[in-house]
Amino acid sequence: MLNLTIKQDRVRLNPRDPDFYNNPYKYYAFLREHAPIFYWEDFGLYCFLNHDDIHALLREKRLGRQITHLYSREALGWEPERQDLRAFIEVDRHSLLELEPPAHTRLRALIHKAFVAKNIEYMRPAMTERCENLLDQLAEAIVSNGKANLKELYATPLPVWTIADMLNVPLEKSPQLLDWSHAMVAMYELGRTPAQEKLAVQAAEEFTAYAKALIAERRLAPGDDLISMLVQVEVDGEHLSEDEVVSTVILALNAGHEATVNVIANGVYALLKNPTQWQALLADAALVRPAVEELLRFDTPLHLFTRYVLEDFEYKGISLKVGQQIAVLLGAGNHDPARFEQPACLDITRNPNPQDSFGGGIHYCVGAPLARLELAIAIPLLLKRFPNLQLAEEPIWRNSWHFRGVEALWVTNPH
Ligand code: HEM
Repeated sequence: MLNLTIKQDRVRLNPRDPDFYNNPYKYYAFLREHAPIFYWEDFGLYCFLNHDDIHALLREKRLGRQITHLYSREALGWEPERQDLRAFIEVDRHSLLELEPPAHTRLRALIHKAFVAKNIEYMRPAMTERCENLLDQLAEAIVSNGKANLKELYATPLPVWTIADMLNVPLEKSPQLLDWSHAMVAMYELGRTPAQEKLAVQAAEEFTAYAKALIAERRLAPGDDLISMLVQVEVDGEHLSEDEVVSTVILALNAGHEATVNVIANGVYALLKNPTQWQALLADAALVRPAVEELLRFDTPLHLFTRYVLEDFEYKGISLKVGQQIAVLLGAGNHDPARFEQPACLDITRNPNPQDSFGGGIHYCVGAPLARLELAIAIPLLLKRFPNLQLAEEPIWRNSWHFRGVEALWVTNPH
């Protein structure tokens, strides 16, 4: 029995229901059978869960992450922008993720350079060393307490340290960066509270001031870090403005942190539940690459992305109107049996594996090479150090369906 009601293509399903967020995949399978395109009443959105639809819609030019570049808020019937959220809105305004062409095309060309695989490969030795140090701490914690929280001690520090390294800020600043990031990202949670909004605005103000100070410093004495690169980058005579550099620095942390943490923790959990896959990966280093793709697919870290309808059009019999929002469900697309044989099975040799966890189209994750590098280092090093690692207890899933992750991952290491 699933906790949803369905009437033709209209679905009522509470995303905060533990039965749903503990295992959304069984709901996706049911919905795919009964209403593969459905109107989710609780969100007021048309949702798409088949891989082919997601692929097409993420590339559809009549949809966009933003709409106010084409229509005024008044024309859309929206309330005026809230002045009390100004500091937060300003960061979003110059953020790559919130822009559409032509502004997006220009900014993406400038930022892309910093993230291409060959420009981040230099981080491999530092990342490896950081993982080894974290594994030492994990080993100590297991020896002292009999078990340790792998999410807290391994999955969480690595992505924020990576960004701190990229920005060339001291690692001691990481907890502060994380606090700012968590406060700001809470703005995208369902049903945010006024208290969360206040914290997000304060975080945006403080993070912006910190980023501006770093920019001023790097203009005077450039190094080989991301900020120095962003202040100097030039494509066809174009540079980034200070506001754009600030937003990019903040976005790198906010967009890149939580998903990477969750892929590491969800991925280790998936491997622990599938010991033959764990053993296969341990035995063959050539499987690291396909294993990373499979972990990204199998327990997708980000489940929902929305788009605005920029001009009226019809898609598969659904008539979409300007200003309306639609959503693609990436976790559902990654489990579409029409695209993935036996989608509920973890198969680290899966090939091809057209997983969609990094999105698609013009907003395709610019940090994907960095995330892949982190995963390709962190996962095999963990397996090598702890070939006999085991779950100490079943994890509890966080009540945040579209940022899918466990609260904690308690592991132990019997000899
Ligand atoms: C496993 C980890 C990650 C996942 C699953 C992920 C996923 C995504 C997805 C799905 C999008 C597209 C959003 C949309 O279409 O609406 C996106 C965009 C983006 N991601 Fe990631 N991401 C990850 C890691 C990172 C990292 C490490 C960084 C940077 C340090 C990063 C930076 C960005 C940026 C800047 C964008 C906006 C790109 C654009 O709008 O052109 N991400 N990411």
